[in-house]
Amino acid sequence: MSRTPLISGNWKMHLNHLEAIQLCQKLSYELARHRYDQVEVSLHPPFVDLRSCQTVIDADRLEFKLGAQDCHSKDSGAFTGEVSPTMLAKLQVSYVIVGHSERRALFGETDEVVAAKAAAVAKHGMTPIVCVGETLDDREAGRAAEVVTTQLRGSLAKLTRAQFETLVVAYEPVWAIGTGRNASPEDAQDMCAKVRTVVNDIRSGAGEQVRIQYGGSVKPVNAAELLRQPDIDGALVGGASLDAVQFARIVQAAA
Ligand code: 13P
Repeated sequence: MSRTPLISGNWKMHLNHLEAIQLCQKLSYELARHRYDQVEVSLHPPFVDLRSCQTVIDADRLEFKLGAQDCHSKDSGAFTGEVSPTMLAKLQVSYVIVGHSERRALFGETDEVVAAKAAAVAKHGMTPIVCVGETLDDREAGRAAEVVTTQLRGSLAKLTRAQFETLVVAYEPVWAIGTGRNASPEDAQDMCAKVRTVVNDIRSGAGEQVRIQYGGSVKPVNAAELLRQPDIDGALVGGASLDAVQFARIVQAAA
């Protein structure tokens, strides 16, 4: 089966709505000079930038998919400060990152919370990008595969069989995020192969179609080697996605 590579830019808490519009435009300019029709690209700006980015993408007919970085699991309610999946769906958001390690570590999100969010995203016709990954302590103690397996079993627990068909999992080792130290292509491949096996154990038949991204210090210099691995179907890019030239080179590496 051929899986379309998905390169996603997670802008985290960077760029106001004016800067976000500029980055969308610069990126479309950079990518227009290359062919990348075999690659899907999603951009994940902060919530307050979504409407502006959506307008630009629509008006200029840009090839990017709009993404969000998180959402609440409920459709509406008294949850001050939160954003619901129905609001995102209305903005034509296609992909929503859930369970990013920063949300897990800094905002106390458990696998149960992540599972509810993933199911809510899928219920509203969007695709969850479910993040998993071990810490350095886990890896050094030889627990990396066990930790990732537990996260997957917990975080994917509420998805239906049909929802597994479009699922994206991002393997992001915590020690590689924002450190400039990426996992070696071999280690990333080993874990992504493991992720595929576990997904298949959870839902028989789903392993072949699930798209698995690698994330953690993906840069133009290491992207091609990582993306060449048979079980790596894309990248979730943080820092390098804020630079149009660098991000376009990573998209190119996938094409
Ligand atoms: P960096 O690419 O900056 O390491 O961030 C990775 C990440 O967390 C993407 O979600």
